[in-house]
Amino acid sequence: MRVRYVLLAALLCAGAAFPQSLRDLADQRGIKIGAAVDPSHFTESLYATTLAREFNQAEPENAMKFGPIHPGLTTYNFDPADQIVDFAQSHSMAIRGHNLVWYNQLPGWLTSANYTPEQLSSILQDHINTVAGRYAGKLSAWDVVNEAFNGDGTLRSYLWYDSPGIGLKGTGYIEQAFRWAHAADPKALLFYNDYSAETINTKSDAIYRMAQDFKARGVPIDGIGLQMHFTTNTGPLASMEANIKRITDLGLEVQITELDVRLPVNSGVASAASLATQAQIYHDITALCLKFPLCTAIQSWGFTDKYSWIPGTYPGFGAALEFDTNYQPKPAYTSIQNALQTAPPLISAAGLVNGASYAGGAVAPGEIVLLYGATFGPSTLDFGAQTSQTRLLFDGVAAPILYSQVGQTAAIVPFAVAGKVSTQVEYEYLGQRSAAITVSVTPAQPGVFSLDSSGQGAGAIVDASGQIVSRNHPAHHGDVISVFITGGGATLPASQDGQVLFDGPFPLLAATPQVKIGGVDCPVPYAGGASGLIAGVAQINVQVASGVASGEQSLIVVQGTSGSQSGLTVWVQ
Ligand code: G3I
Repeated sequence: MRVRYVLLAALLCAGAAFPQSLRDLADQRGIKIGAAVDPSHFTESLYATTLAREFNQAEPENAMKFGPIHPGLTTYNFDPADQIVDFAQSHSMAIRGHNLVWYNQLPGWLTSANYTPEQLSSILQDHINTVAGRYAGKLSAWDVVNEAFNGDGTLRSYLWYDSPGIGLKGTGYIEQAFRWAHAADPKALLFYNDYSAETINTKSDAIYRMAQDFKARGVPIDGIGLQMHFTTNTGPLASMEANIKRITDLGLEVQITELDVRLPVNSGVASAASLATQAQIYHDITALCLKFPLCTAIQSWGFTDKYSWIPGTYPGFGAALEFDTNYQPKPAYTSIQNALQTAPPLISAAGLVNGASYAGGAVAPGEIVLLYGATFGPSTLDFGAQTSQTRLLFDGVAAPILYSQVGQTAAIVPFAVAGKVSTQVEYEYLGQRSAAITVSVTPAQPGVFSLDSSGQGAGAIVDASGQIVSRNHPAHHGDVISVFITGGGATLPASQDGQVLFDGPFPLLAATPQVKIGGVDCPVPYAGGASGLIAGVAQINVQVASGVASGEQSLIVVQGTSGSQSGLTVWVQ
């Protein structure tokens, strides 16, 4: 009986460790999971509760488009868009704006008048200013320009480009729209968005060339939106992967913006087999996005089969989304969940830095390190090694974890790396482990703690009375001050991972540090552990030499060939 209770408890714990909503899972991945929304459904309780429970991002399906939001030359209808912004803000959801420049849903007053390019240019600038300006600071991203390319890679012929256009050649009008959008809302990420450009093909080549050109010339573009309106024949995943890779290699984000997978339906009902194929596609696309740190959002075009553009546009097709018409999760929903739970986290050696100086490139035994950019972790800050589900392994040895949140983990490099040339680092969250990265090991890599945690400016330095040394309380010549570092390396006697020191004698740094203040060598009477400090932080007592000049002076700790960061200072008088 007791065995069964233990088992039950273990299962309950395992269940508790896997939050079920897509939103909770996406928060642990540091990405957005979104849906296109129509505010006329917000009064429908299941629509509103499902949306807020499952998604951390909403995008107006139509409400921010030119025609709906700007129905007359001098009239705007902001109400539906405002409702979406209010809904999203009150449910702590991000908002993706869609869209500022498109060939479709343009109002009659605009298309039926024969405006000159000069007039059109000022109308478009005014529109972007007004709409992007109204929501400035509230949106995470804007689709600035939507669907500007034809399948053969040429530019689509329409009002804003060449009929008659705003007076700019080639992609010049797109560039201009990005510049206006950036001026109106400098905080929003700016995207070019298109369909049938997921794989490597003539259209995606043209978009890539434009993105490359914009990046090279500093046009304010942040990413490419891949719509992904699919049938069950999506095109090769490997080609999508290659396309996402080349875009993110430019330093641009990719967001999957309009995912849906339409199925043949009979009176609205899809076959079990096609629902299973659909689920596989939702899984594969989610897993594909999670292969790239710069793939930052996965969004479907709607979320319930009750409201979708598909049946109206493709008669005989439907059932394209994650929830059925009764808001019940479909196999597609479970498959997205599964991909979000099981994709391996990504880490990179460039993200591993000293916790005091932020210097990277190598690790030292006992060094407090920060790992930036891991793509799976607690969605809120998780302090302390006891409760953490995060593990950072160095050659298989678990480092004590100080805190962890998706994108940032603080840990202490195990002392067991001492004497090695390199170490294999793996990151794990909720049992999902990253690929190993190889990181050089150095005997010491001192980083001095700064007062404001920036790694620069005044050091976290105290005098003999325990008072912080500052401009108003400078150190005097002959004073012994205490500097705190991490990355000091192995100690004598050896330190234990994670041990907090209380009683002396305390271990000493094996590599004796030299300290220069204002370029002058200063005596170091003590360098080692101290009461209340965790193994890996060292206290260095330094006597301010008489030759040190007065004022704010640089302070550098040198161990062997490694020096601490420049820009760290101490006040002397
Ligand atoms: O709101 C009017 C309503 O007042 C009017 O009585 C009714 C009569 O037809 O039309 C309503 O507007 C419709 C609007 O959706 C809102 O329901 C438009 O006719 C209809 O054309 C419009 O369709 C939208 C379509 O874009 C426009 O081309 C779809 O909902 C929307 O899902 C779709 O979204 C696009 C993305 O923006 C870009 N990528 C492709 C995607 C699918 O086509």
